[in-house]
Amino acid sequence: MRPVLVLNGPNLGRLGSREPDVYGTLDFAGLTEQCRATGRALGLHVEVRQTDDEAELIGWVHEAIDQRLPVVLNPAAFTHYSYALRDALAMRTAPLIEVHISNPAARESFRHTSVVAGVADGTIAGFGPLSYKLALRAIAELTAPAEGGT
Ligand code: DQA
Repeated sequence: MRPVLVLNGPNLGRLGSREPDVYGTLDFAGLTEQCRATGRALGLHVEVRQTDDEAELIGWVHEAIDQRLPVVLNPAAFTHYSYALRDALAMRTAPLIEVHISNPAARESFRHTSVVAGVADGTIAGFGPLSYKLALRAIAELTAPAEGGT
C-alpha cells in the first residue's frame, strides 16, 4: 500500500465539540478512522496526525519532503498567514492536496486568503469530512502507477 500523510493544524483535534454548526459532529478520532478506511479501499496506507504547533507541522512537512510522501493537508488557521509553512511546502516533489472542512471562501474575509493554495496541486473545501475522502481519491489518482507500466 502506498503511504500518504494526512496532516492537520491547530484546533482540529477539537473536532466534534468545536463549533459543530461549522465543522460538524465527527470528532478527530472518527475523522482519522474514516481517512484510514478510505485509504485502505484505495490501496493507500494513511497516517493521520494533528498538531497545534507550527514548528511541529513544518517538521512533518520536511519529513514528507525527505521521503517524497504525498500529503493531504488541512493547515487550519495557518492557511491564512503561515509563510513558513508555505515555504516548507514549496520544497515538495510529491503530490499535495489542501483540504478544508468548511468553505473558507464563504466565511470571514480573513479566511479568503490561502498562502498555501499556490504551492498545492489543488484545494478541496466545504464538503465536511468528505473533503478528506475526495483528497485521498485525488492522491490515489495522482500516485497511481502508469497503466501498462512496469
Ligand atoms: C479550516 C478553515 C480555517 O479557516 C480554520 O482556521 C480552521 C479549519 C477548515 O477545515 O474548514 O481551523 O481549515
